[in-house]
Amino acid sequence: MDRKLRVGIIGAGNISHSHLGGYKALPDKVELVAVCDIDEQKAQNYAKVNGFPRAYKDYNEMLAKEELDAVSVCTWNAAHAEAAIAALNAGCNVLCEKPMAMNASQALAMKEAAERNGKLLMIGFVRRFGNDADILRNFIQAGTMGDIYFAKATYLRRSGCPGGWFGDRRYSGGGPLIDLGVHVIDLCRYLAGCPQPVSVYGVTYDNLGDNRADNQKGWVSQNSLGIDFKYTVEDFATALIRFDNGMTLNVEASFNLNIKQDTGNIELFGTKAGARVDPQIEFFSDMNKMFVDIKPVGNTALDFNGLFNREIKHFVDCVRDGIPCISPAEDGVVLMRILDAIYQSAAEGREVRL
Ligand SMILES: NC(=O)c1ccc[n+]([C@@H]2O[C@H](COP(=O)([O-])OP(=O)(O)OC[C@H]3O[C@@H](n4cnc5c(N)ncnc54)[C@H](O)[C@@H]3O)[C@@H](O)[C@H]2O)c1
Repeated sequence: MDRKLRVGIIGAGNISHSHLGGYKALPDKVELVAVCDIDEQKAQNYAKVNGFPRAYKDYNEMLAKEELDAVSVCTWNAAHAEAAIAALNAGCNVLCEKPMAMNASQALAMKEAAERNGKLLMIGFVRRFGNDADILRNFIQAGTMGDIYFAKATYLRRSGCPGGWFGDRRYSGGGPLIDLGVHVIDLCRYLAGCPQPVSVYGVTYDNLGDNRADNQKGWVSQNSLGIDFKYTVEDFATALIRFDNGMTLNVEASFNLNIKQDTGNIELFGTKAGARVDPQIEFFSDMNKMFVDIKPVGNTALDFNGLFNREIKHFVDCVRDGIPCISPAEDGVVLMRILDAIYQSAAEGREVRL
């Protein structure tokens, strides 16, 4: 494509600013055309401050009028599917924030809409674009770790529901599992070469609720449109996921947990070496009859600087130059199938086969 990509944003909230920054970093490739939010005032202010020529309240109107090439879907989770499908049907390529949707059937409908329209649907699994993911994937692909047969992913907050719709199942589809767990489950699966899930055993708890010592710092129960949000999601989720390559993944995610401090880590265990990601990448193995801990030289901690810019650049390059997408809709569907199965397993108290 030798002209600039005409880009729109649907959902002018917090994360849209990270998408905006990514698009603004590509002034020769991208033209920011329009923004849309159901909060019309918010959309108008956003357009004014960030240099969009036009703002809309209704994405159907925006899609009908603007002949966009691409949109970012940055709404709350409940609106991802409808917005993405409308954009794909209008001939746009779509970058949709994680989680892909509220559930796997919505996700599948989105993927089918992309295929039907011959457009790209990329999912914003931003951790795939991290410097740490790049480094670890290179080591894994070079065979340093052997076969990875177990992974452990934690994303635990002592008191950390982001507030508002994030705590209301009707808008989010779930709590820390769908919001935080999705990042680390996807990253482990990506690093391990995207094996397919075969079964899950999951448990969720809602013992603590939102009324804790700090009354959920930042929690808002009503948004600017007067929508009342109710805290109806799990506090904590844990699951064991089995994949078709024999790997199991143990995941833990919380918004509320009686833990000393927030913690997050990914650990992978292979036949030749194990690795942990946090605070720096480190490998564990044995060599010449001695156990060795090996730390790559330099900073290998996840660097948020430029993280979203790399994701957005990849999306733009995929659309403009047709390069293969490293975060495609099919992986979003797999993640939603895993999350659905964990919630089902938790509700039914048994293993769920996929
Ligand atoms: N990749 C990441 O690390 C990351 C981080 C934060 C949030 N997210 C994801 O980004 C999405 C948005 O999160 P946020 O923190 O920006 O939320 P937010 O509440 O700040 O923004 C969401 C916006 O979407 C708007 N909206 C809702 N329905 C709409 C519709 N039908 N049409 C147009 N606008 C609509 C809301 O009015 C709101 O302004 C969520 O899916 C979330 O999971 C991803």
